[in-house]
Amino acid sequence: MLGSIGDIYRDRLRFVLDVARIYGDVAQYRVAHMRMYQVNHPAGVGRLLHDNHRNYSKDVPAFGTLKLFLGNGLFTSDGDFWRRQRRLAQPAFHRRRVAAFAELMTDATEEMLERWQARATLGQPLEVAQEFMRLTMEVVTRALFSTSVERDIDKIGRAITTLLDDVTFRFTFPFYPPLRVPTPRNRRFLAARATLDGIVYRIIAERRNQPDEHEDLLALLMEARDEQTGEGMSDRQLRDEVVTLFLAGHETTATALTWASYLLSTHVAVARRLYAEVDETLKGRVPTASDLPNLTYTRMVIDETLRLYPPAWITNRRAIGDDAVCGYRIPADATVSISPYVTHRDPRLWENPESFDPDRFAPERSVGRPHYAYFPFGGGPRQCIGKGFALMESTLVLALLAQRHELHLVPGRRVEVQALATLRPRYGMWMAAHPR
Ligand code: HEM
Repeated sequence: MLGSIGDIYRDRLRFVLDVARIYGDVAQYRVAHMRMYQVNHPAGVGRLLHDNHRNYSKDVPAFGTLKLFLGNGLFTSDGDFWRRQRRLAQPAFHRRRVAAFAELMTDATEEMLERWQARATLGQPLEVAQEFMRLTMEVVTRALFSTSVERDIDKIGRAITTLLDDVTFRFTFPFYPPLRVPTPRNRRFLAARATLDGIVYRIIAERRNQPDEHEDLLALLMEARDEQTGEGMSDRQLRDEVVTLFLAGHETTATALTWASYLLSTHVAVARRLYAEVDETLKGRVPTASDLPNLTYTRMVIDETLRLYPPAWITNRRAIGDDAVCGYRIPADATVSISPYVTHRDPRLWENPESFDPDRFAPERSVGRPHYAYFPFGGGPRQCIGKGFALMESTLVLALLAQRHELHLVPGRRVEVQALATLRPRYGMWMAAHPR
């Protein structure tokens, strides 16, 4: 009666990998009354995300849960409404605009590394997953609001953490009472959402009254005008986009940096090459956006980390009409999932898929790789709007970190991956920072 629920709850990652290994490119299984399809082959992934993307909507339970928190922002909306919002938001993520955030990224990283230095002196270990979460939260908050939230940053951080933990809980327990039932959990959720909304709406109102010289993401979103109607975004819409960017813009990057640190601490030769590149390129300077083209190995370390531990490890869609994917029929209304975690470990596409080998992203070794063999940022029209932002941030943070510290896992602490909304380390990531 329950279909594959038991296997999924036991170990979601094992389950999706086994489905692909046993049943191949397109597989079907049942979760209670729902028929699920899992598409593993790059051609099928390309069909869903790109070639026939209009046939696949985000009208699935996971995005419904996220809407409680994000409203109708870019991540959760669909159809013509999403298309308009994406057109309005896209200019804010232009490469040139994003490059202007490099300095705030390195400033926030230097502040974090100063804290680490103090801990290293006292011989205290760090839980780096939390550290990176705090860092990326600060970066995205400053990018959205420049300096106008200094006094609220901790409040925002606490509210987002409460909301995110709650959404993660609701993914795992979808039958939990809805928000209108006043359970302690629901009351906590509503209070955190009210706190966050209060801050966001206050800042929007201040900006409406005094449009000034800000050059942050919020200013760009407020300036955006629809080409056809000349209209901008309403306050509600701005709120939804801002909260979406808060969420989408920090946990994913923090998780990537956490796994990169883990992989470097367990692959000494890779770490040494990284240090050599950083020392040679930066000669002790703080990196800037113009160093990025020369930090090629640093970037390959990030790319390879995102292959093995893609933070957004699965996404779902609902088929609007019937479709054929890799020769299999997908009926209208079916829920279809694609998982970069699975496709990134397909031995037909990747040599020794389980091994950490950044060189596989060198141009000569990437030739001939199918397009959707690698999709940590999704693809097609709904590809991550923050891809350039995230790659720049991770590369700059990793370069600065490698310049100053070596990270070593604390012996005796367990490291295990946990597949929630993102791929987090289940017991945190305890490391000791040693100045280089
Ligand atoms: C390593 C970091 C990141 C990863 C791995 C990542 C991954 C993804 C993926 C896979 C999607 C598509 C989801 C789907 O198709 O269902 C997505 C969408 C999105 N991401 Fe990211 N993301 C990252 C960082 C960021 C950052 C830094 C921002 C913003 C500052 C951001 C904002 C968004 C938004 C707004 C969407 C929805 C886009 C749309 O549907 O139009 N992401 N991200």
